Amino acid sequence: MTYTPFDLSGKVALVTGGNRGIGLGMAEAMAQAGADIAIWGTNESRNKEAEEKLKAYGVKVYARQVNVAEEQEVVDGIDATVAELGRIDSVFANAGIGYGAPSFVEMKTDVYRKVLSVNLDGVFWTLRETCRHMVERAKDGDAGGSLVGIASLAAIEGAGKNEAYAATKGAVISMIRAIAVEHARYGMRANAILPGWIATDMTQGAQDNPAFAEKVIPRVPARRWGEPEDFGGMAVYLSSDASSYMSGQTLVIDGGYSIF
Ligand code: NAI
Repeated sequence: MTYTPFDLSGKVALVTGGNRGIGLGMAEAMAQAGADIAIWGTNESRNKEAEEKLKAYGVKVYARQVNVAEEQEVVDGIDATVAELGRIDSVFANAGIGYGAPSFVEMKTDVYRKVLSVNLDGVFWTLRETCRHMVERAKDGDAGGSLVGIASLAAIEGAGKNEAYAATKGAVISMIRAIAVEHARYGMRANAILPGWIATDMTQGAQDNPAFAEKVIPRVPARRWGEPEDFGGMAVYLSSDASSYMSGQTLVIDGGYSIF
C-alpha cells in the first residue's frame, strides 16, 4: 500500500485573502494536492485572476467577493461557499492588513480600529461561521475539520510601531487555542501559522528599503525573503488527515529568523 495522506481529493479548503500573497501560495499548493478551493477577497479582478490560475490545476474553484470586516458578508460567504462546493474541510483565516505608524503615540484610533476590523473581527467571524458549519456536520455524523489562523511573528516578538497589528496577531493565537480546546470533541483541530518576513504586496515597502536589505535579511538564517510558496506544504499538511492529532499549535515559518 502507498502512503498518501497528502492527497486532498474530495476535500474543500477555504482561504480568505486567497487572491494573492501567502493566501494564494497556500491555495495553489492545496489545489495541486487535489482539494477544491474557495478564495475570498475584496478585489473582484484579482479574485478572477486567481480563480483562473487555480482552475488550471483541474479542481473546482469558487472565488467570492467578501470583505471579512463585515459580519454579514462572512455569514453569507460561508453559506454560499458550502452551497457551491458542498462542504468546508479546512479554513485559512489569512486576510489581513498591516498598518503601522511613525511611533506608537502617533498611532491614530482610526488606524487601530481598521486593523482590528480585518485582522481580528474578520478572523473571529470567519472561524466562528466555519465552526458552525463543521459542528453541524459533526452532529450529522460527519466529524472533522481544520481551522487555521494566520498570525505573525509580530505576535511573539516586539513589533515596534505596529502595536495594533501585533495585538491582533497575538489575539489570533489565543483565539485558535480556545477554539482548539472547545472543538476537539468534534474531531476538529485549530492551529496558527506565524510567518516571518515574506515577500508579498504587504511588505513591498520593506522590500524596497535598502536599510532593510542590509540589516534585516542578513539576519534571516535562510538568507532570503520567504515566498508565498513556502507556505504550501504547511497548508497541505494542515488540510490533510496527517495533521488530525495536531491542535492548538503555533507553527513558525520564518527561515529561522526567530531563533537566531
Ligand atoms: P497581501 O497584502 O499580499 O495579501 C492580503 C490578502 O488579504 C489579499 O488577498 C487581500 O485582498 C486580502 N484582504 C485584505 N483585506 C481584506 C478584507 N477586508 N476582506 C477580505 N480580504 C481582505 O499580504 P500577505 O503578506 O499575503 O498576508 C497574508 C497574511 O499573512 C496576513 O494576515 C498577514 O498579516 C500575514 N503575515 C504576513 C507577513 C509578511 O511578511 N508578508 C508576515 C506575517 C504575517
